[in-house]
Amino acid sequence: MRYSKKSMKIRIDYNNMMEATLGDKGISDKKFNDMADKAKAAFEAVEAGKGKNMMEWADLPYNQDAVVEDILQTAKEIRKNYEYFVVLGIGGSALGPIATFQAINHLHYNDLPKRLRKGPKFYVEDNVDPERMAALLDVIDIKKTMFNVITKSGSTSETMTQYLIISAMLKEKLGADYKNHIIATTSKAKGNLIKIAQAESFKTFYIPDGVGGRFSELSPVGLLAAAVTGIDIKGLLQGAKFMDEQCNSASLKKNPALILATLQVIAMDEGKNIGVMMPYADGLKYIADWYCQLWAESLGKNVELDGKPCNKGQTPVKSLGVTDQHSQVQLYTAGPFDKVITFIGVDEYRKEVKIPDGCKEYPNVNFLCGHTMNELIQAERKATEYAITKAGKQNYTIMLPILNEYTLGQLMYLFMLQTAYAGAMLNIDTFDQPGVEEGKNATYALLGRPGYDEKRAELANAPQKQDKYIL
Ligand code: PA5
Repeated sequence: MRYSKKSMKIRIDYNNMMEATLGDKGISDKKFNDMADKAKAAFEAVEAGKGKNMMEWADLPYNQDAVVEDILQTAKEIRKNYEYFVVLGIGGSALGPIATFQAINHLHYNDLPKRLRKGPKFYVEDNVDPERMAALLDVIDIKKTMFNVITKSGSTSETMTQYLIISAMLKEKLGADYKNHIIATTSKAKGNLIKIAQAESFKTFYIPDGVGGRFSELSPVGLLAAAVTGIDIKGLLQGAKFMDEQCNSASLKKNPALILATLQVIAMDEGKNIGVMMPYADGLKYIADWYCQLWAESLGKNVELDGKPCNKGQTPVKSLGVTDQHSQVQLYTAGPFDKVITFIGVDEYRKEVKIPDGCKEYPNVNFLCGHTMNELIQAERKATEYAITKAGKQNYTIMLPILNEYTLGQLMYLFMLQTAYAGAMLNIDTFDQPGVEEGKNATYALLGRPGYDEKRAELANAPQKQDKYIL
């Protein structure tokens, strides 16, 4: 599909971050412009790093022609032959597929009759709650299901546990045919899943070595799941490419991702340690989850690139407009000046719902009549932005002309670049996650994985809990 760059360009409004709007609670032009050299250095570091080490994600909009064709062909077969498609994965191997599915597809996709769906019913299992696994098995028929096991490391306990359970069940029910119900998406070079996939002859897609989990949505991690439910994956990649073009400048007047990163770095420096992501569209509800991982895992670090100890990062919080106006916005207006709020709005919702005439004898209800829900949600977004700005709280707004593959691709790539620039300005390694690995390793040790004796001993020697603090 072709998308118009002119009419589909996402827009950024950061008036409400600035002194001109917020007075002494805002950022002065001078303070912002004084960051120009630092921002330029971050831009240059990111440009130099693109395509190398852990920045191969920057190549994904450009270098996947062959794999996209393979994915489209595979997705076509899956749509033809399977009634359920289940992703088994966690973290970066799950949040992107969930976010993209929710953004583009019908909001009750799985409940639609088959003829109105573009593909099989879709589930992402990103936990090891036994009740959830049992519940999944209650609603799918595994003989009609394709499972996509996604793990870059090929060893994550949660995903490999799911694989063990599902593959055993498939073998029992289907015998040798079981291998036609599993697709592995993993690293080509390392890990256990690739060895299993090769031994069992599973169809396999590869996650490039230099693409970390939270930066992997535009790789086969996200693209296969998206294509299976009929999402235009070429449109997603084109959108990402368009954002890359828009960010092709070191100027704090032109590069939207660099501007947003700079504003957030200034805000963090001023003690704004919380970043609220508040989209006004149910379709974008899980983009907030995806962003939370991207921002939290990338920037939450305790050592700078030169080895100097630090404690950096900004706690991301997800919030949904208008739903969370009725739970969180009181805090955002009246609470401490420790947050930056990112609003995401949509100019044109994909549906219009009119509010019919009624309740004539109750003018305080009747005023709504003749409007649309579209007008109501826009008014509520503007009203909340107004209330938060009036309270002196820093916020900015990203507007999507409409929510589609092209604008979603732009949005995701904008956030990936914003994160990379922010990490460079904070002088930390944006692309590692030692805190996550620590928990993974402790789990391996607790469950007896070979090679983890030292970690087991470390856990045994950790301070023991005292009964006096337990009721
Ligand atoms: O961003 C990351 O690297 C992590 O959150 C991983 O995506 C997550 O831990 C899952 O890892 P894996 O894909 O190796 O199973």
